[in-house]
Amino acid sequence: MLRKKDLLGLKDLSKEELERILAHAAEMKSAFVARESLDNLKGKCVATLFYENSTRTKNSFETAARLLGARTISISVATSSVKKGESLIDTGRTLDALLTDVIVIRHSMAGTPALLAKNVRASVVNAGDGMNEHPTQSLLDLFTMKEKFGTIKGLKVVMVGDVRHSRVARSNLWALGKLGAETAIVAPYTLIPKGIEELGCEVYTDFEDAAAGANVVMGLRIQLERQKIGLFPSISEYGEHFAVTEEKLAEICPDALVMHPGPVNRGVEITSGVVDGESSLINEQVTNGVAVRMAVMDFLAGGER
Ligand code: CP
Repeated sequence: MLRKKDLLGLKDLSKEELERILAHAAEMKSAFVARESLDNLKGKCVATLFYENSTRTKNSFETAARLLGARTISISVATSSVKKGESLIDTGRTLDALLTDVIVIRHSMAGTPALLAKNVRASVVNAGDGMNEHPTQSLLDLFTMKEKFGTIKGLKVVMVGDVRHSRVARSNLWALGKLGAETAIVAPYTLIPKGIEELGCEVYTDFEDAAAGANVVMGLRIQLERQKIGLFPSISEYGEHFAVTEEKLAEICPDALVMHPGPVNRGVEITSGVVDGESSLINEQVTNGVAVRMAVMDFLAGGER
C-alpha cells in the first residue's frame, strides 16, 4: 500500500509502490474509458496551483479529480493574489483554509512542492518543479509502456533531446531503473547534465549508437525558455543529428514505439510524420495521464489511502 502524504518525486518510491500505482491506474483507466464517474474523492477538494503554463497536466488532474467526485479549485497564478505579492506558503495556507485535500503544484524552481508540502495540511502532488522531477508524467509514460509491451523489465528506452532541462527524463530514469528497464540518453554534449549516468543510464551523443535495438524512443522537448545561452548552433543542425524522424527510425530501430511528453515542437525535436505516424503513442499518453492521476489522488486522499 502507498501510505504517504505527498507525491513529490519518483526518486524515493520503491519498485513495489510504483507497481501498485500502475496496477490501480489500470483499474482507473477501465472506469475512465467506460465514462464512469466514481466517488472515491466525494466530499474532497483538489486544487491546481500552476506557476508555469500547462495544457496536459493541469487539465488531466482536473478531469481526474472530477471523475473521482471531488470539487476543484483552479488557481491561475497570472490572475491570483500571487501577483499582489502573496507568498507560496500563504497561498498554500489559504487553500488549507478552503478545506483543500490535494494541492497539485507546478513551479519553475526545483524543491518548491517539497517546501509547500512541509507547510500545509493538504497532500501535495508535484506537477513539475524546475529541472527536478515530473512524477505523474513519468507514471503515465510507464503505464503506457506497460500497456503496450506487457512489462517494463528488459525494455530498452532511449530518451533523445534536451535532457539537461528535462524533469521528465529525471523522473523516468529513476523509475525505469527500478522497474528493470535498460535506459539511454542521447543529446549534444551541451544538453547532457553532469552526473546523469549516476541515474543508471548509458550516455550517447550519436543517435544511431543510442537507438539501435530500442523498444521505445522518447523525444524530449527543446526547452528554449530555460536556455539562458544558446546550447547548440542552430535548430537545423540540431535536427539533422538529434530530431526523431521517419528516416532515422526506419533505418535504426524500425520496431520502436515513439513517445513524447508534449508539448511537441513539430519539426524541431520530432517531425510531424512521426508525431502523427503509426508508431506514435503521444495521444495515448495523454489519455493514460488521467488514469494515472486518478490512481495517485485516490492513494493520497481517497478510498485507497
Ligand atoms: N507533459 C506536460 O507536462 O505537458 P504540459 O506542459 O502541457 O502540462
